[in-house]
Amino acid sequence: MLIIFGASGDLTARKLIPGLFNLFKGNHLPENFVVLGVSRSDLSDADFRKKVILESKFLNKEDQQKIEQFANAIFYQDLGETYDTNYTQLNHRIGDLNRKFKTANNYIFYLSTPPSLFEAIAKNLSDQGLNTETEGWKRLIVEKPFGYDLKTAKLLNKGIQQYFKETQIYRIDHYLGKETVQNLLVTRFANSIFEPLWNRNYIDHVEITNAESEGVGSRGGYYDGSGALRDMFQNHLLQIVSLIVMEPPIGANAEEIRNEKVKALRSLRIMRDAKTLHEHTIRAQYMSSQIDGAEIKGYREEDGVDPNSTTETYAAIKFFVDNWRWKDVPFYVRTAKRMPTKVTEVVIHFKSPHHQIFQDSGMFNKDNKLIIRIQPDEGILVKFGVKVPGQGFKVERANLDFYYSSLSETNVMQAYERLLLDAMQGDATLYARADEVEAAWEFVDPILDYWKNGKDVRVYGYSAGMWGPKNADDLIDGFGMWRNPTENLADAQEFCVIC
Ligand code: BG6
Repeated sequence: MLIIFGASGDLTARKLIPGLFNLFKGNHLPENFVVLGVSRSDLSDADFRKKVILESKFLNKEDQQKIEQFANAIFYQDLGETYDTNYTQLNHRIGDLNRKFKTANNYIFYLSTPPSLFEAIAKNLSDQGLNTETEGWKRLIVEKPFGYDLKTAKLLNKGIQQYFKETQIYRIDHYLGKETVQNLLVTRFANSIFEPLWNRNYIDHVEITNAESEGVGSRGGYYDGSGALRDMFQNHLLQIVSLIVMEPPIGANAEEIRNEKVKALRSLRIMRDAKTLHEHTIRAQYMSSQIDGAEIKGYREEDGVDPNSTTETYAAIKFFVDNWRWKDVPFYVRTAKRMPTKVTEVVIHFKSPHHQIFQDSGMFNKDNKLIIRIQPDEGILVKFGVKVPGQGFKVERANLDFYYSSLSETNVMQAYERLLLDAMQGDATLYARADEVEAAWEFVDPILDYWKNGKDVRVYGYSAGMWGPKNADDLIDGFGMWRNPTENLADAQEFCVIC
């Protein structure tokens, strides 16, 4: 039984139910599966079904027959005024459904509520004995944001761990549910051609871009208290970083992989002095502009945003990793809203050949690159030099590419689908462990602190629809500049679509 707290919220209708429905269609769900939505809205089972599934705009109407079938497994329980209340009634409802549907006392509690409620919910569940595993297993999935900084993340961990064991807690980071993020592990550890080069001897620098074309939309209220660093960098992007940085694990089980990820996160060099923080971080905010003739609001004009807000919608961070493999290799990571396109990719820039025998003036920007596209146009691209036919040895860049869409069997599970299924099967590999989350905050905290209290800190502006502020490339050493990708994996900034 999946019991969703905060079930009348957006996430349930937009991601959780569609994810579960796809699992149902694909026959991945156990036969006796039921969902119980829990929240403070006064809804009946029928109202809830109508809202999240029968009249959902997130499901394909062609599946109507299946939708109706699946709707029968969905129920609702009103908690009343507050989440911090006595759960006796809820416990009875869970017990009834458990008996009726023979769910064997196996429960997942999914907390899709503000984090301030996590501890209270965990406590109230524990008061009813709903955390004990004498009969059936009990798991707790918690949504981000997991803490506001290191201190609150630690308190949150401690708070929940009073009632649930760490092995029962699943901290969701939906980027880990993305097929292409998992493929980072496979690319590195199932091939012998990349791993020998995966170190400071061959890699010049690593670049990660996460761009979104949308602004903050209706989430201004939440976002203004968060900002890009907390919203995307501390969790999703540092998870990607950990998969790039980590050492090969002994095996593919959850603990081995997570042990290596924690080690990787702990090896990020924490920036503490103002000079480094000043030189290695850029924060910026989008400003109004016109895109395709449409007026686009600036961040400060968005609903729920303070008109004098200094919250960043763009964050770019340069950092180093203090270990044997990565010594002196700069990592450049940026995330932003209102960029020209929605794209996430990792670019591994290899060093130029130690000795250049071809006297080609443009060689410096023809380094080998491995581009791992997380989304969209998912795939992998290797850029390498080829000879231009004709006299002499002129070198040009060529592409060697792989696209996921070219696989004949491409039933790529959506992130939530995959993660929910993993939690049902007790596989925590793709969930963040307490120490991982804390290690990520440990790195992020001093940056947040500097941005808040530092003396010479700037928030730059960039027009909505541009690749960040004018000084964005200053972060990159030498003649470097960001690779500004398009929606197609093989194109970069020299390419644009006019119509
Ligand atoms: C969420 C952030 O975690 O991830 C959002 O809170 C962001 O601000 C979203 O838009 C991006 O996810 P995706 O899967 O669309 O890249």
